Amino acid sequence: MNYTLPKNFPENGLGDEVAFELISRIVRDKSANLGSAVSFAHMDPPPPKVAIETTRLNAQYNQNLLHPDLSPFATEAESIVIDWIADAFQMRNGHMCAGSTIANLTALWAAREHGAKSIVCSADAHLSVAKSAHILGLPCKKVATDKNGKMDVQALPDLSNAALVLTAGTTGRGAIDPLSGWHLEASKWVHVDAAWAGPLRLSRYRALLDGIESADSVAISAHKWLFQPKDSAICLFKAAESERSVSFSGSYLATPNVGVQGSRGAAGITLLATFLAMGQAGLDQKLHQCIKVAEQVAIGLDEFETTELCCMPQTGVFNWRPVFGVTEQLVQDLKGVSSKVMIEGQPWMRNVAANPHADAKKILNRIKTIVSRL
Ligand SMILES: Cc1ncc(COP(=O)(O)O)c(C=O)c1O
Repeated sequence: MNYTLPKNFPENGLGDEVAFELISRIVRDKSANLGSAVSFAHMDPPPPKVAIETTRLNAQYNQNLLHPDLSPFATEAESIVIDWIADAFQMRNGHMCAGSTIANLTALWAAREHGAKSIVCSADAHLSVAKSAHILGLPCKKVATDKNGKMDVQALPDLSNAALVLTAGTTGRGAIDPLSGWHLEASKWVHVDAAWAGPLRLSRYRALLDGIESADSVAISAHKWLFQPKDSAICLFKAAESERSVSFSGSYLATPNVGVQGSRGAAGITLLATFLAMGQAGLDQKLHQCIKVAEQVAIGLDEFETTELCCMPQTGVFNWRPVFGVTEQLVQDLKGVSSKVMIEGQPWMRNVAANPHADAKKILNRIKTIVSRL
């Protein structure tokens, strides 16, 4: 598609319609189609229609959660969805934020306010954990994982002054760290980074997250497996005072500003509309569909003589590679279908079950054709 964008901020505008037409053509041309039958590479789902339409409505009303008097329904909607979700995790309260990077930072900030002097996580924890430690001025210690990517709890140091971060659905392998055991009792604070797999707690797979109810805080990305547009995530706390410790009052505010962000949009309205549209059964069905496709593709690649599987999907994420290894050509040819990930220093391909419209047969055919051609 041919288009020319001005090099500098133009003196005169094009007008709303022409500018929108131009930009929407470029966006359509230069964005991945997350709902395509072979889109299975990243943690970014295609949002359902109700979420897209509600986001448009939110943009129109432009509510600010910082000021409940400006956003009475946005405030109410967020508190409804937080209640529904917190209940499944046996958490007391929480708030929405722009992503799990921020939810992790917020939770670890609360941990520091409650006396944690260091952060301990597994080698496979998301980079936002080390980033949070850096921002908070706390040392971050990483412990080894077992062969399936779960934290090796035998390798844990003394946790008496530490915030222990357990991951429910690691970014690279989808592993769930042990969510119960002595290490939870031994820690000053337990945070579960459930950015990816947290929504399974609202589905038939809820038992996979048993033990999460003992955590002090939980992070969940709604823009991953709750099928929300960005920027949508949730930070949950076990105790009301934890959230208070990350709240600040200001002379121009009627209520304290909770968490890291200041002004926040009405992501809770979009999530509420999505929950109302899908119901628990609809969400369960979408997650089940994603997990089924991951299993079918993984089994197909395990049976194919030219590829090997690292391990079966644990939470819809799995890794495989051709027997001749991962090449740059393979990575290029499979863009959007699979992506490259390093596991214990070795390159593997990664598939992520974020797209309920993915078609296992089409994905397998695409991968097999490309691998066979190399
Ligand atoms: C396990 C895990 N934690 C945290 C994050 C960060 O979440 P976000 O991208 O919502 O900031 C990710 C993102 O992929 C993740 O996989």
